[in-house]
Amino acid sequence: MDSLPLHSRTPIEWAHAVLADPIRLLIDHAFLEKKAANNALELMTRWPNDWLDGWVETMTGVARDEAAHLAQVTRILMRRGARLERVHKNPYANALRLLVRKGDPAEILDRLLVSALIELRSCERFEVLAAASGDAELGNFYQALYGSELGHYRVFLRLARKFTEKSALEARWQQLLAAESRILAQQEAGPRIHSGWPGATASPGT
Ligand SMILES: [Fe+2]
Ligand SMILES: [Fe+2]
Repeated sequence: MDSLPLHSRTPIEWAHAVLADPIRLLIDHAFLEKKAANNALELMTRWPNDWLDGWVETMTGVARDEAAHLAQVTRILMRRGARLERVHKNPYANALRLLVRKGDPAEILDRLLVSALIELRSCERFEVLAAASGDAELGNFYQALYGSELGHYRVFLRLARKFTEKSALEARWQQLLAAESRILAQQEAGPRIHSGWPGATASPGT
């Protein structure tokens, strides 16, 4: 866990607060899984990149994982008598997407790095949720997702490395990591996977 390169870490109090409304948290979560599945397919369609070994396998693999996560969240919601809503706002991901530079090769690089960032933060959040959840079904689910999203974070970062040289990639990755913690700190509190918490600061301890 300590090896995650995030510039800010989520306190356990955040998880206790959002878990007070598990249904709304699950509804938000379902939308994120849907978005993540779409994102992988969109990357594959917009940048066919069949010259790149593993590109199609990776994107279809991520899309398949995210679709499975969506089905799992939806099943848990249905069993608890809730259902998905039609509209969903995701100001965190929207703000991150605004950081993507237009025009290749910067655009594909940034899209992969932003995808890696969202996976990385989700992975951190799932681990905090697993630790805080008193509900065994949710706790086990969040723990399993931690591992899956960690794998996605690593594959997106590994693919990004193929689009630029090492020092340029590292510089851009560091910029985006810093921006991510600023953006997260600006989010409102509430039962959402990428919500803020009162008193959040951009880079505690870094
Ligand atoms: Fe997922
Ligand atoms: Fe993922």
